[in-house]
Order: sequence, then C-alpha cells, then structure tokens
Amino acid sequence: MSSSKSLEWDVVVIGAGPAGYVAAIRCAQLGLKTACVDEWINHQGDASLGGTCLNVGCIPSKALLESSHLYQLANADFSAHGISASSLKMNVATMQARKDQVVSDLTLGIQTLFKANKVVSIHGRAKITAVDTIEISSRETRKKIDELKTRKIIIATGSSPVRLQQAPIENNCIIDSAGALELTEVPKTLGIIGAGAIGLELGSVWSRLGSQVTLIEAMQNFLPMADKKLAALAQRSLKKSLDIRLNARLVSASVKNKKVHIVYEDKSGEQKAAFDKLVIAVGRKPNSDRVFGEELGIEKDERSFILVNEHCRTSVPNIYAIGDVVRGPMLAHKGSEEGIMVAEHIAGNFAEVNYDLIPSIIYTHPEIAWVGKSENECRAAGIKIRVGSFPFVASGRARAMNETEGLVKIIADAKTDRVLGVHIFSAQASELIAQAVLMMEMQATAEDIALTMFAHPTLSETMHEAALAVHGRAIHIKN
Ligand code: NAI
Repeated sequence: MSSSKSLEWDVVVIGAGPAGYVAAIRCAQLGLKTACVDEWINHQGDASLGGTCLNVGCIPSKALLESSHLYQLANADFSAHGISASSLKMNVATMQARKDQVVSDLTLGIQTLFKANKVVSIHGRAKITAVDTIEISSRETRKKIDELKTRKIIIATGSSPVRLQQAPIENNCIIDSAGALELTEVPKTLGIIGAGAIGLELGSVWSRLGSQVTLIEAMQNFLPMADKKLAALAQRSLKKSLDIRLNARLVSASVKNKKVHIVYEDKSGEQKAAFDKLVIAVGRKPNSDRVFGEELGIEKDERSFILVNEHCRTSVPNIYAIGDVVRGPMLAHKGSEEGIMVAEHIAGNFAEVNYDLIPSIIYTHPEIAWVGKSENECRAAGIKIRVGSFPFVASGRARAMNETEGLVKIIADAKTDRVLGVHIFSAQASELIAQAVLMMEMQATAEDIALTMFAHPTLSETMHEAALAVHGRAIHIKN
C-alpha cells in the first residue's frame, strides 16, 4: 500500500445521493480533501447529483403528491369552505414540468454546496480496485478515464428497484417507480404490485388525478411494519380511494393491445385483472455488485447488503459503507446521518447514529408517521406499557382545517414513564413526528410532555393531549 503522503485524496465518496453527498460535505467541512464520484444521468441525459432521492424518489414524488393533493382539494373539498371551482382543469404536462424544475433546482443546489465546501465532484463510474485506489470509467463507453488514490473510501451507492421475473419492465405499459413519476397522462386504470411506501404514494398521486388504482399486495396484513391500530385506521381510510387487495401474489403479467393483463393468486385461487399501466413496487435491493471485486475482502450478507459495524466500517478498516447499501431501513435521513457519523469518525471525532429513533413516514393523505416501538412490539417484548391516544376530531385546529381524520398515540413505559413510541395518522403527520423524535432523543417521559405548554390552536396540541391521556388526564376527551 502507498504511504499516505503519496495519496491524492483524504476521502473519496462513491455515490452522491443523500448519504454520499452529505458525507462528502461534512468531510470537506472537517478539513479533509474530498472527492465525490457519481454516474447518475437524468432523463434529459444530463449528469445529476442527488441520487434516487432527488432524481426519482422522495423529491419528485412529493412534488406530484402536493400537486395532486391540491387538485383533489379543489375538486372535492373546496365546496365545504364555500368555494366553488366549477371549471377546474388539470394539466399533467405542467405538473410534470413543475416537478422537473423542483428536482433540477435541488440537484443544482448540491453542485453549489459542493463548490462552496470544496468537494470535487467527478462524473463517472467508480470501482475500488485496491484498498486505496478507485478506478473511474465512463458510464457510456466503460473506458477508464481516471484513477484516484485515497486514504479513506465511503461507499454510498444506494439501491435499485427489485425486478419481478413474471413482470419484466418494458418501460411502456409495465414500469417501475421512476416510470410512474414520468407518466404524461393519467391512466384510466393503474395496477401496482406492492402496497409498501412506494405503492401507496404513487397510487395516491394517480388516484387523486382520476386513475382507478388497484394495489396487489402479497402480505396478509396491511403495512405490517406499522403499529397495528394505525395500520388498520389507515387501511380503512385509504380503501376509499385505493382498491387494496391483500394476500394476493402476482403470477404473471403480459402486454396485449396496450393493456397489461395480470394473473394473481389470492385465497380464493387464481384471479385476473387488466390495467392501462402496471407499476412494479416490490422493494429495493442494495447496489453492491459493481463497486468492488471479491479480492478486496469487503463482506456482504446473503441479501447483498455490505456488512458494517455500528459506525458503518466495513470488514476493510479504511472503507466505510452508508445508506441503502447497508442494513437498516432504506431512508434518506438514515443515510445522511450515517454520512455525518462516518465523516466525524474519519476526522477523529466521536459520533453515533441512534438507530432506535429513525422516523418512518408514508406520504398518503392523511399521512402515516411513527418513531420508536409499536404497541405490538412492546407487548411481544414483554415491556409493560401505558398508552395514551387523542383523536384529531377533538382538535379545534383540525376541525378548522377540515382535517379531522386520524389520531396520535403515545406509548410510555409503565414503570419509568419514558416515551417508547409515537404513532400518528393525520394531516401533516410528517411534520408532527419531528417533535416526537426530539422528545424521545431527549428521553422525555409522558409527564414531561404533559407539563409542556403547546400553542393553541395547533395540530401539535394533540401530542400534548395524548401525553395527558397516558395518565388518564386528557382534557378534551373522556379518559
Ligand atoms: P416495500 O418493501 O416497502 O414494499 C413492497 C411490498 O411489495 C411489500 O409489502 C411486499 O410484500 C410486496 N410484494 C413483494 N413481492 C410481491 C409480489 N410478487 N406480489 C405482490 N406483492 C409483492 O418497498 P417499496 O414500497 O418498493 O419501497 C422501497 C424502499 O424505499 C423501502 O425501503 C421504503 O422504505 C423506501 N421508501 C420510503 C419512502 C418513505 O419513506 N416515504 C417512500 C418510498 C420508498
């Protein structure tokens, strides 16, 4: 191995998604000479930073969720406020152009941040050829264009959609989540395989715009990772706009006369359905197969996730891996926090990620959000708990907003009163959950929250009332 003096870089980050670009910026802020290599090409054919999250994930989906929500409000809910919008029109091309603008502003923003922090951005495909060497090749020609020598490497190569053999993506009628964000017209009928976060969010977008959406989900329970009561509430509510078929496994899909014909199996046997478009949203897999050869000794698990310790160090000491390519939920914020932790470690500082407090959010309407343990998890672990919940129908602000659906539920340890989990199904749950994460990070008890003053009238007051309800002291509901 070369001596560190002859090395060109302190850190090379592979991947400029929310894990990689954040790691690169923090490394540079800490005085490390940092390069970030990324091969992403957007659908206009340009190099683009930000990875899946910015280009074809979190950001474009939220842009379309916002537009479609506004359309639905104008279409169905304005009348309750005494506003009529009788000649309402929707233009998918404008909606898509706005979404593309949001994406391009944000990806250009990363370029600006890189420049401001002196992170050198390199476009190309990176392969680790030795523990201190990264070969860069052109994504198009596959020819070697550069070789970097570095002291530390951070792998942040993200994940890709899982493909189904029985329904190959042909990018016209059978599409993946990226394709479902690019549709130029509203399909009359839309089938989605998988009722996870992606299926529910994309299903919400197109159903609000007028599509008849059917979700085919293999699992018996709806959102099995969520708190049971919340999942049941959400299922009942979402069923009004989405046809969610559980316990249904896709057998085959074929395109005939511009329609996708599927066969799936449920408890009554073989079923058939046909859609204008079919989206495959059955999970994502780590991008760990092209970044290094086996000879390097970087270990992976049986599902191809790169094995790392609690500080994201791989089995090769100077190589780290963060984000979707390692264990844990595939969430942008989890990857970003890992990026910061690794940068601090490389700079010789102490840092850690609290893996127990990663918030989860599904951006349907109402939104589903939670952090910490669910009631079912606590009971299975034999933890004695007290539960307090408060419905939005009893919140003054929620009523004023015409957003009375849902509830907040706080789970506290029966002995210590420490908050163990917070689960919310409501409008703006994605914003409300942040205060729960903060409370739990500060190790708050239900009493601490009960003794805190919340501004009136706000949706946040429901959190206060739920904390009061843990001890049977809620004011605005019968305990
Ligand atoms: P997922 O794993 O959340 O859901 C996929 C679903 O497909 C599962 O429920 C699974 O049972 C079902 N499935 C698998 N094979 C099937 C088959 N043959 N027939 C019928 N159903 C089948 O994966 P998803 O929704 O694709 O999301 C991928 C990743 O991206 C997840 O880790 C998710 O957390 C993350 N993500 C997070 C978002 C958020 O935080 N709001 C939004 C979008 C994605």
